Amino acid sequence: MTERRVKIAPSILSADFATLGNQVMEAEAGGADYIHIDVMDGRFVPPLTFGPMIVKAIRNRTSLPLDVHMMVMDPGKYVEELAEAGADLVTVHAESPIHLRSVVRQVKEAEMNAGVALSPATPPSAVEEVLPDLDAVLVMTVNPGYGGQAFIEGMVDKIRRMRAMLDERGLHALLGVDGGISAQTAGRAASAGADFLVAGSAIYGVGRGVAEAIAEIRSAAMRG
Ligand code: DX5
Ligand code: ZN
Repeated sequence: MTERRVKIAPSILSADFATLGNQVMEAEAGGADYIHIDVMDGRFVPPLTFGPMIVKAIRNRTSLPLDVHMMVMDPGKYVEELAEAGADLVTVHAESPIHLRSVVRQVKEAEMNAGVALSPATPPSAVEEVLPDLDAVLVMTVNPGYGGQAFIEGMVDKIRRMRAMLDERGLHALLGVDGGISAQTAGRAASAGADFLVAGSAIYGVGRGVAEAIAEIRSAAMRG
């Protein structure tokens, strides 16, 4: 069981892009804590999604913090533009061919919060050296690139190990979990120590109310 109130970050990847502003406002009205924006460059992962211009458009529709997940080869290139667009948290991948510490510092210097995401095959140790500088660590429970994939059960233990690493060192970074989160899986991710859960298809792809979907995931997370 977890005592903390788990935060929910709806991922707009599964939203109706033709009515994106409304979809974001529905999430805010439905009690979302962040809006999760998946930036993909067609190289780090095959799909192309959106970039700073869409972040800026979303900024104009919500006061929620914008959590930007950079699935790109060269995230440093976009840090300034993301700051200007109004991003709050910029999460880069440990597997991107970058000097992680430099990019994390660049994000912090641009006065945003910095996160690092770990793909399923990447161990917690990959982020160990930059952990004290981070505001968030994102454990991926699917391979990055697509919404609607099945939660990889084997990642629950990694969430636990990441939680232990943060707690043992007394670090403040929030622990996020992204991929395959639904009312069926949220409890396991939360019990393993997640502070926030990202959910796309379970919020936007179910053909019913966004608020109802958020509430369902939240209550599953609280039950543990
Ligand atoms: C996948 C993205 C996720 C995605 C999650 O690469 O990082 O944020 O939107 O989608 P679901 O919740 O459908 O697994
Ligand atoms: Zn994501």
